[in-house]
Amino acid sequence: MSASGGAGQQPSGATVTVARRADGRRRRHFITGAGSGIGAAVAATLYDRGDQLWLLARSDKRADDLAQNFPDARVIVGDLANPTQLELILASAPLPGFLDSLLLIAGVIGFSRVVELSAGQLGEQVNVNLVAPMVLTRALLPAVRAGRGLVLIANSTAILSAGGGRSAYVASKSGIRGFADVLRAEESSHGVPSPRSFPVVPTRPCRKRSMSTKTRSTTPHNSCGQTPWLNRFCTYSTYQRI
Ligand SMILES: NC(=O)c1ccc[n+]([C@@H]2O[C@H](COP(=O)([O-])OP(=O)(O)OC[C@H]3O[C@@H](n4cnc5c(N)ncnc54)[C@H](OP(=O)(O)O)[C@@H]3O)[C@@H](O)[C@H]2O)c1
Repeated sequence: MSASGGAGQQPSGATVTVARRADGRRRRHFITGAGSGIGAAVAATLYDRGDQLWLLARSDKRADDLAQNFPDARVIVGDLANPTQLELILASAPLPGFLDSLLLIAGVIGFSRVVELSAGQLGEQVNVNLVAPMVLTRALLPAVRAGRGLVLIANSTAILSAGGGRSAYVASKSGIRGFADVLRAEESSHGVPSPRSFPVVPTRPCRKRSMSTKTRSTTPHNSCGQTPWLNRFCTYSTYQRI
């Protein structure tokens, strides 16, 4: 998406050059997982450059937190662990008319050997990592098409090594990669540029049932302090396009 410049103000009050779409509108993104970790860092990076954010929060409380971090963002409340309810919420919610990107970053992991795996653990990971992102993609595809936007889905190198104890996580992340492949094939004729499921290189130890760090840091650097999160989430050339 080519862009032209325009003056704008950051939340800090500093004047920045706001990158705009070729049609002059501010770039717009729908993001899941903006409450912590990679999603928070990606959201902060895009917000700070003046883009408009639409965010998904799992609860009213988390929506309030997001509204504090991103004051003019639009926030939709919906629990990814309940895709059926999420579909109903999306059907009645005001949705963006166009999107430059749909960034499906939220994820959850649980560690359990197959012999110990409960339906509840399995269901949460499959719903959050696989079913809900598919539901969201379907609901927001008209906006992605209208904006000729990108669909980016956080994946994991865990699907390449299949280590023990992560069967539900690996199954859900493998599934979403397959979904991205089919989406890419289907949408190429609609001008949607290559939906991708991006592997995320582990940046710190994942915690049981959540990948959150102790503090909800929005630092744009990983634990080594070297590589910007956004560049880890997607290649630099892709980052320049969203
Ligand atoms: N961190 C890593 O090393 C690593 C490695 C490989 C892949 N990944 C992938 O990268 C993505 C981000 O990982 P991360 O470590 O940054 O995760 P994180 O810090 O744990 O953040 C996860 C985000 O997902 C949201 N989320 C979880 N369950 C949800 C639900 N039921 N409804 C709505 N939102 C929900 C969380 O919301 P709340 O803020 O409300 O908790 C949070 O914002 C994930 O897809 C993960 O699989 C991460």
